[in-house]
Amino acid sequence: MKTILVPGGAGFIGSHTLRTLKASGYNVIALDNLSNGHRDSIENTVELLEGDIRDRNFLNTVFKTHSIDAVIHFAAFIEAGESVKAPLAFYENNVAGSLTLLNAMKDAGVDKIVFSSTAAVYGQPENNQKLLEGAKKHPINPYGDSKWMVECMLRDGAAAYGLKSIALRYFNAAGSAPDGGIGERHDPETHLIPLVLDAAMGVRPSIKIFGNDYDTPDGTCIRDYIHVCDLADAHVRALDHLFALDTGELDTGNSASDTETNTGFYDAFNLGNGKGFSVRQVIDTVKEVTGTDFTVENAPRRAGDPAFLVADATKARNALNWRPQYSDLADMVRHAYAFRRRHSSFKAA
Ligand code: UFG
Repeated sequence: MKTILVPGGAGFIGSHTLRTLKASGYNVIALDNLSNGHRDSIENTVELLEGDIRDRNFLNTVFKTHSIDAVIHFAAFIEAGESVKAPLAFYENNVAGSLTLLNAMKDAGVDKIVFSSTAAVYGQPENNQKLLEGAKKHPINPYGDSKWMVECMLRDGAAAYGLKSIALRYFNAAGSAPDGGIGERHDPETHLIPLVLDAAMGVRPSIKIFGNDYDTPDGTCIRDYIHVCDLADAHVRALDHLFALDTGELDTGNSASDTETNTGFYDAFNLGNGKGFSVRQVIDTVKEVTGTDFTVENAPRRAGDPAFLVADATKARNALNWRPQYSDLADMVRHAYAFRRRHSSFKAA
């Protein structure tokens, strides 16, 4: 059985991916400093190593004492708006942390990694077009920059060291496991759907719309919401893809492996449903699903927000045979609502 190390496994997407990995027959070890992750998001069938990816000695010990076949790397700060206010913290955690992890992997001879990347690497698309992977990388916030810098390391590591990697560029992760056992919990919460649900549950007095004068049909930002279980499924498919490279089952296509001198691989896939919803449409969906009404206020734009981010995820469908199961926004909201109602400890930001 293959063993997968999962830095950031106690977080939102990480914890859902641990479940899917286990169900797919992988042995998994979570690694998390619990700065944003939650110990109780790691179910008791999974070992948790508590520590930081910036701690090289800790990582050396992890790789020495465990036989790791591949890494799925989620450990990062994720709030685009926050990254504008605290860019150095983002570069330190996301860039320096990933660099330390990649160096530790290289020295330990671990050559496969699936990386949590983001739609934020693209910045603001021209003419509000759906994004393909080859679109220009012009991040408009330090968060997007930090993720793109790590993708550059993966690309260059393929050519130089034979590193095999896949970067998964998520659009807006949403929903939660349908059984409500694990879900989205940030403190403070900055993401739209959980905040609107808090307004619906009376935990917050209102929801603020950050900007209603964007170049979109209703003036509010458009995002492509993708269910966290569909993201988890894509990670396992990406991992299977990397392992299949070893057995020569795959044509490596447009990867960095097209040289005679190495066996490296780097590729990137968008993960989204290809359907955009405005902030107002999300609020209306929450009102419908929860059967409640609440106060909606207009507020100034939030720094670092592109007007429109929607995926063309055809490449993941074709290469990974990925088929999202929960593409209905109302289902995502329903699942998130079930989780949020079960956990009473959320604090209003
Ligand atoms: N928004 C509001 N009010 C709020 C919170 C958010 O109007 O109280 C708006 C934001 O301004 C934005 C939209 O809702 O226009 C979505 O905001 P989120 O904070 O939920 O998500 P982001 O689009 O900023 O970022 C998320 C992830 C990133 C990822 C990005 C990719 O946090 O990691 O999706 O699209 F890169």
